[in-house]
Amino acid sequence: MLTKLCLGTVFIGYFRHFRICMLDKRFTSMHNARMSHAQRPRIPGDVCFISAYAKINLTLDVLGRRADGYHALTSVMQTIDLFDTLCLTAIEEERVEMICSIPELSNEQNLAAHAARVLLDRFSPGYGVRIELHKRIPMAAGLGGGSSDAAAVLVALANWWQLPIADQELHTIAAQLGSDVPFFLQGGLALCEGRGEQVTALPDSWPRSLRWLLLLKPAIGLSTAEVFRHLSARDYTDGAHSKAVISALEEGRPPDEQDIHNSLERGVLERYPEVAQAKAEMLQAGSSLVRLSGSGPTLFAPFAELALARQVQERVQARGYETYLTRAIYPGAGYLNVF
Ligand code: C5P
Repeated sequence: MLTKLCLGTVFIGYFRHFRICMLDKRFTSMHNARMSHAQRPRIPGDVCFISAYAKINLTLDVLGRRADGYHALTSVMQTIDLFDTLCLTAIEEERVEMICSIPELSNEQNLAAHAARVLLDRFSPGYGVRIELHKRIPMAAGLGGGSSDAAAVLVALANWWQLPIADQELHTIAAQLGSDVPFFLQGGLALCEGRGEQVTALPDSWPRSLRWLLLLKPAIGLSTAEVFRHLSARDYTDGAHSKAVISALEEGRPPDEQDIHNSLERGVLERYPEVAQAKAEMLQAGSSLVRLSGSGPTLFAPFAELALARQVQERVQARGYETYLTRAIYPGAGYLNVF
């Protein structure tokens, strides 16, 4: 009973931002599936669908370089409604199969496969999983796609396989997979500190003035490690931008534009002219504010009104850019569909 209660906590605590869809050969009634899904055994062939959302960094203050080579951060992150779809199928053998719509990600190096492998090694459940990953979030783009996929696998398998794992251990495993992975266990709006893995949820208070988020992905991919390696000490901040943005959000005010700051942006614009060019074109097309997300190269421009967001999108698309018109997305019961 106690185990079931604990698992229930993991389920409620961590399924906030994944849209789950379980298809089970034995249960046709939605009601029955909902009632029994927490207790029933898994059988090979059972299927679980998950959506793994992208993020933007509303702020990214880099405070300095740490002794372990990572950088100390203060970052306000938000999940957005651009998502990858994962289909997990239970298989007889205790191994991980990884199939991705992007061939170069169809291997065990994929962070999602790695996440499943860690749980198999830790719990030896007696069966394995085939992961089919339909990528929509651009890769190496500063949108956290790989981290979100890995977090989705951790959360889904922990629940689906009824693993006796506490929230804290799931968080520790997530942090070992990557600095951003713990954020995606919950998603929503959060303050991320340390190297990014210390996550404090913030109230669901995304400002109306930033209601529509136009993303532009320049036609290059950037390595996070590479971007941090070239970061200059003059781009370090004391974290004041993130603090100011959090105060504004808590008070229901739109944040000051200069506080929507990313310490990595200046260096990325300097080293990668195509990103600087894309930013200039977004501004020229009518955006009033354009910022880098994470380590880039994706840029985002917030808008209060859909009409202007669409106008800017059409203009930059006509220039050949890859764009996505999105919004902040909050996890909640509405995102959980079990049938
Ligand atoms: O944690 P993750 O594996 O995603 O980080 C990728 C690389 O980005 C790290 O190896 C490190 O070079 C850099 N990084 C950093 N400081 C952080 C996060 C990442 O320097 N806070």
